[in-house]
Amino acid sequence: MSKLKTIYICQNCGAESSKWIGRCTSCNQWNTFVEEVVSASPRTAGSALLSDGNRPVRLDEISATHQERINAGIAEFNRVLGGGLVPGSLVLIGGEPGIGKSTLLLQLALTLKGTKIIYASGEESLQQIKLRAARLKLSSRESLFIAETSLETLMAIVEKEQPRVLIVDSIQTLSTERVESSPGSVTQVRECTSEILKYAKKNHMAAILIGHINKEGNLAGPKVLEHIVDTVIQFEGDSHHLFRVLRSTKNRFGSTSELGIFEMRQNGLVEIPNPSDHLISGDTDPVSGTAITAAIEGIRPFLIEIQALVSSAAYGMPQRSSTGFDLRRLNMLLAVLEKRAGFKLIAKDVFLNVAGGLKISDPANDLAVLTAILSSSLDLAVNHRFCFTGEVGLTGEIRAVGRIEQRVAEAARLGFQRIFIPRFNKGIDHAASGIEIIRVTRVEEVFKKLFR
Ligand code: TYD
Ligand code: MG
Repeated sequence: MSKLKTIYICQNCGAESSKWIGRCTSCNQWNTFVEEVVSASPRTAGSALLSDGNRPVRLDEISATHQERINAGIAEFNRVLGGGLVPGSLVLIGGEPGIGKSTLLLQLALTLKGTKIIYASGEESLQQIKLRAARLKLSSRESLFIAETSLETLMAIVEKEQPRVLIVDSIQTLSTERVESSPGSVTQVRECTSEILKYAKKNHMAAILIGHINKEGNLAGPKVLEHIVDTVIQFEGDSHHLFRVLRSTKNRFGSTSELGIFEMRQNGLVEIPNPSDHLISGDTDPVSGTAITAAIEGIRPFLIEIQALVSSAAYGMPQRSSTGFDLRRLNMLLAVLEKRAGFKLIAKDVFLNVAGGLKISDPANDLAVLTAILSSSLDLAVNHRFCFTGEVGLTGEIRAVGRIEQRVAEAARLGFQRIFIPRFNKGIDHAASGIEIIRVTRVEEVFKKLFR
């Protein structure tokens, strides 16, 4: 029997220390050290993939039997995974409490047909799962459910049932007898994850783990967890807004630029395949302070309404506030407006908002942001059948943006009349696109065309 010893482990980064310290020396976080009891004899280090009789092979000796991906039954989820679940892979889904992680995975367990699934919950009782399923109006005769928090029991069941997909709601509630520390601690989470990983790789089972996130918005537990798993997915959005966005931050089997968009309704999460249809208010009376951007988030084009409100600052220091758009970028754009286009906004409050609660990061949104701000400042509405795309540089020039064809095509599909694009974007066929294309070089030019 190995001797037990007490050490302190940073719950943020996994750093160890023999005594308690207030501030972690490796990740600089305060108050993250927690006492944990570990076995003193170091466990044999080694990857989950190693086994007896292992030998190195040449690439051409590896049989490239193309592993069929498992269709997750939810198109938006498949998209984020890069085309479905890969057998033998480990997916970690993080998100704030109440965002809909359990709902999403229960929906998955109940819609995926023809694949054996075990849904293990340490957070909810079987009755609660049943009630939720009733609310979702879904049922399945194949999926198996278990309320369990012991890793050993769970793995014994998995061994016996041999599922193709294992869902664990949440990895923080699982614990193994092999380590002494309490469930949810770094050591427990790390042990349980690598145990599941070992089994998944050996048996070609896909595992989806739900992870809690901490107050900084990172996945709770150490960063090491993100290194162990193959795919890390964040489920974002807040409960007051329309959309829930699934975004992968790491993916060994696909790109990380894909987004999956859902809406939480009465009976569960509904996929939104055409988000643009929902992101533009169908207002027929144009109002000042809004402009529509033809953005690309992930690899899909979106048309999103940007709203701005410019008003005289009541007190000395003007306020700048932004929701869904980078505040520093907003300040930069305001400086450009002031210096290059001669608009004095120095004594004004500027508020910016992106419709639908989305966070956007495409630089091509600059032009619509500036247009919305100016529209509000001048109190002149922009025709709501116009849309904009273009990155604004420090000299007020409008720079070329990527994938212009997709942006123009999406705007045309949604029936826009006119799209303002950077002059430097070549190769877009005017006649074929079915929308009037206005090419612009500088911000002043756009404003002259719009507000004169
Ligand atoms: P949940 O999936 O339990 O979130 P998480 O596991 O991420 O903590 O709950 C999501 C929220 O969604 C919950 O507050 C209630 C709400 N909800 C609906 O609006 N409609 C539904 O059909 C369900 C099941 C939940
Ligand atoms: Mg939950």
